[in-house]
Amino acid sequence: MEICMYRAGEREENEALLESLLLLEERCFSDPWSRGMMQSALADPSVLLLTLCDGEILAGYLMLLTVPPDGEILNLAVMPEYRRQGLADRLFDACLAYCRDVGIEMLFLEVRASNTPAVSLYEKRGFVTVGRRKNYYRYPKEDALVMRLLSE
Ligand SMILES: CC(C)(COP(=O)(O)OP(=O)(O)OC[C@H]1O[C@@H](n2cnc3c(N)ncnc32)[C@H](O)[C@@H]1OP(=O)(O)O)[C@@H](O)C(=O)NCCC(=O)NCCS
Repeated sequence: MEICMYRAGEREENEALLESLLLLEERCFSDPWSRGMMQSALADPSVLLLTLCDGEILAGYLMLLTVPPDGEILNLAVMPEYRRQGLADRLFDACLAYCRDVGIEMLFLEVRASNTPAVSLYEKRGFVTVGRRKNYYRYPKEDALVMRLLSE
């Protein structure tokens, strides 16, 4: 599976990609991004989208907001049937290489406090918890951990 990179402006209108992203959201989150949220992220020139596709199937994606020297991981998800095969690690490798290239020195993200797989992944990649946002998420209501990674 190859990693593809998309940026608004460089990307042709791609209805199939939008539908695949929305399907992946539905399968992966209890409070998935709406079509409007996804469309505005895709139209934002500061947003980088990284995808991993198995043929026609979108197996995983990572969305990064780039505001050098800062960056924020907006979303990361891997289809349930493709998990525990290193796909998120591969998306992270590509994301961190991109951050180095464009001068992003500090990377932030928010994650549900109970999301053990994601928190484990982020800690493995060197993120540390720097804050907690009370009742940040809905469906179900839950705190967010704010995590940060400093470049080496
Ligand atoms: C979190 C998620 C993206 C991980 O994707 P993945 O492709 O299965 O992850 P990988 O196989 O690349 O694993 C990388 C690391 O993540 C951690 N990890 C992944 N799944 C885990 C699990 N079920 N339990 C504990 N740790 C886990 C481990 O540290 C793992 O490293 P290791 O294999 O050396 O132990 C995936 O579970 C997912 O899409 N979850 C639902 C959406 C979500 O919660 N996204 C994060 C929003 S902030």
